[in-house]
Amino acid sequence: MGGVGRNYALRESASLFLARVSRCAAMTQFPELKEQAVVITGGANGIGAATVRAFHRQGARVFFCDKDTESGAKLAGELGANVLFTPVDLMSEHEILAWTKTIKTSAKVIHALVNNAAWDPRIPFLETTTQQWDDLFALNVRAYFLMARECAPAMTRGSSIMNFSSVTFYNTPPQMVAYVATKGAVIGFTRCLAREIGPRGVRVNCISPGWVFTERQLRDYLTPESKKLIEERQCVPEYIQPSEIANVVLFLASDLSAAITGQEILADRGWEHS
Ligand SMILES: NC(=O)c1ccc[n+]([C@@H]2O[C@H](COP(=O)([O-])OP(=O)(O)OC[C@H]3O[C@@H](n4cnc5c(N)ncnc54)[C@H](O)[C@@H]3O)[C@@H](O)[C@H]2O)c1
Repeated sequence: MGGVGRNYALRESASLFLARVSRCAAMTQFPELKEQAVVITGGANGIGAATVRAFHRQGARVFFCDKDTESGAKLAGELGANVLFTPVDLMSEHEILAWTKTIKTSAKVIHALVNNAAWDPRIPFLETTTQQWDDLFALNVRAYFLMARECAPAMTRGSSIMNFSSVTFYNTPPQMVAYVATKGAVIGFTRCLAREIGPRGVRVNCISPGWVFTERQLRDYLTPESKKLIEERQCVPEYIQPSEIANVVLFLASDLSAAITGQEILADRGWEHS
């Protein structure tokens, strides 16, 4: 398809696609998630907020944190009593320990942990400071480890942990060396943790989204060049919506994926394979 026709198809089909996905998500129910405690980091915005909404629709009890207090409180206020927001800075071990302790006291059993929050700055490699490198690992990897270490004792057979990596591990964009290094670490963390806690019946998987059009991505990165890249690189050239990634998380938390652990699911509309 030529440039203009393809652009038109991208715009047209994106809205149809989203309508179809929303309909599908609204209809699908996983009874095993009802009233279960689900813990989500970075749930105030983007993919995290879509995941909070998705679990809420399943009737789960959602505990989510964020450092964006305003957006977190607004989302929890909109969704009601079964959704509990706590302001937490995931860079702080102390705050993570305090938050997870209150969740365990309240919920007793945790059915799912979603390690979602991360930071993805563009920094030329030669200008990357040690502090930036350490900060990226503290949020994108250490917080995942701390959350898993604190939540795993409260997880029982059928529970699962889901960690976020990224398609950037495969398509290696410029100025993202430190970020991509953290996302590679998440894949290793996922595989090895799945082996160690698997005998208890707890699964651990990883989701690697392609380019997902969250509020922030739309604001900061949607340009004519990035649109062109999506058309050229994705097998299916529609924008990926946060709710579609949340659907993958739901699947991994549900019994439908009982045979899947230690795996990475690339949800990238085929970017990796083009
Ligand atoms: N959006 C994409 O295109 C894309 C692509 C590949 C992978 N991912 C991954 O998906 C996950 C979600 O990405 P997103 O695009 O929705 O991100 P986002 O920036 O839209 O949302 C991240 C949330 O984490 C919160 N957060 C950041 N630092 C925090 C801290 N120190 N303590 C507590 N909360 C903090 C932010 O306030 C925000 O609400 C990340 O792991 C990201 O690497 C996203």
